[in-house]
Amino acid sequence: MRSREVREEALNALDISDENCRFLFNTIPMPVFVLDRRSLRILDCNESVEEAYGYRREELLQTSFLNFFEESEQQNLALELRTSSMLNHVTQITRGGRTILVNLRTSRSQYGGRSALLVTASDIISILMVKPQLIQASKMATLGEMTAGIAHELNQPLSVIKTASSFLLSRATSGETVQPELLRAMIEEIDGHVDRATGMVHHLRDFGRMSQKVLEPVWVNEVIGRVLDIFSQQLRLRQIEVVRELAPDLPTVQADSNRLEQVLINLLINARDAIEEQQEKQCALGERDRIVVRTSVVRNHVRIEVQDSGVGIAEAVKGRIFEPFFTTKRAGKGTGLGLSISYGIVQDFRGRIEMESAEHEGSNFIVYIPVSGTDHAREDSDRR
Ligand SMILES: Nc1ncnc2c1ncn2[C@@H]1O[C@H](COP(=O)(O)OP(=O)(O)O)[C@@H](O)[C@H]1O
Ligand SMILES: [Mg+2]
Repeated sequence: MRSREVREEALNALDISDENCRFLFNTIPMPVFVLDRRSLRILDCNESVEEAYGYRREELLQTSFLNFFEESEQQNLALELRTSSMLNHVTQITRGGRTILVNLRTSRSQYGGRSALLVTASDIISILMVKPQLIQASKMATLGEMTAGIAHELNQPLSVIKTASSFLLSRATSGETVQPELLRAMIEEIDGHVDRATGMVHHLRDFGRMSQKVLEPVWVNEVIGRVLDIFSQQLRLRQIEVVRELAPDLPTVQADSNRLEQVLINLLINARDAIEEQQEKQCALGERDRIVVRTSVVRNHVRIEVQDSGVGIAEAVKGRIFEPFFTTKRAGKGTGLGLSISYGIVQDFRGRIEMESAEHEGSNFIVYIPVSGTDHAREDSDRR
């Protein structure tokens, strides 16, 4: 029998009020709730709950377990909790509005003479996030995907430099003089393009570095600008127009620009793939193939939207796209890590990612990140 089942069976048979059993109950490394089976109120929970959900046990006792779900989903989930033994990939809202993606296992039990429901939660995103190497591996895969676009981008300054140097060389070889103003203008041109190429190389090197996981004030529009600098060329080549609708004077958010870049690149790659898939289906380039990157401020959060006119997401898979290793792309193209890693990163910023999508119409991925210095952001640093 698997160890979790052993534990649950032990719990079923024992009275948690006993000191030894309480100790056992509390040392289970995953959140366990004891619910009243009829009302779904929380009768008891272990210490792992405090860590995962951010509430103290006393605050939760006698409150409804359904409070952890979006209001619109509460009725459905209440039914599922009572009737099925496994609920996969449900979103729960923890203290401060942070969302976690969990698998819930339920089993029937008795508690203080009442019929109870034992619920164990495993937080699948956090399990994944424990491994910084995985974030890094996904970043490397992203870099690999971007190579073609970057090579193209580097080609432009190089070809300008080549044209200028060929011209100067031919003049030097033939002994012709070059007007001092022209010479100066050309050297300035070369100098500017060398700086541009160097900037790109530095940027790539920085992006490839392992992030330090420190949160600091970040200008979102600036990060978007940097990402689009290295990305728009390859989108243009695919006839995809990028529209920037960036709110001026955005406040800074409490984040890490390196990891925020990773999130934006993941969303842009997905948008690009979705549009390409749509183009393949129509056997033509669409006229309205475009990605809109939009920023705004909403209730102490900066909202970043990456909206595409791609294939959209089928209803049947909507609930699974943030799951690690879930991909609908062919082998070699998708790793299924982009969204789950992005979800984890944004969660680390105390923010959240939402998705709106209609099949054949396109998708919009919306990221909310707390503005620096607000309660949402402060709660984050208090907890660290
Ligand atoms: N913008 C989008 N449009 C349509 N489908 C999307 C979009 N973004 C993500 N998806 C779906 O979510 C899945 C998971 O995305 P992701 O985690 O980035 O992995 P990958 O891109 O490697 O498949 C994709 O395979 C795709 O089915
Ligand atoms: Mg992806």
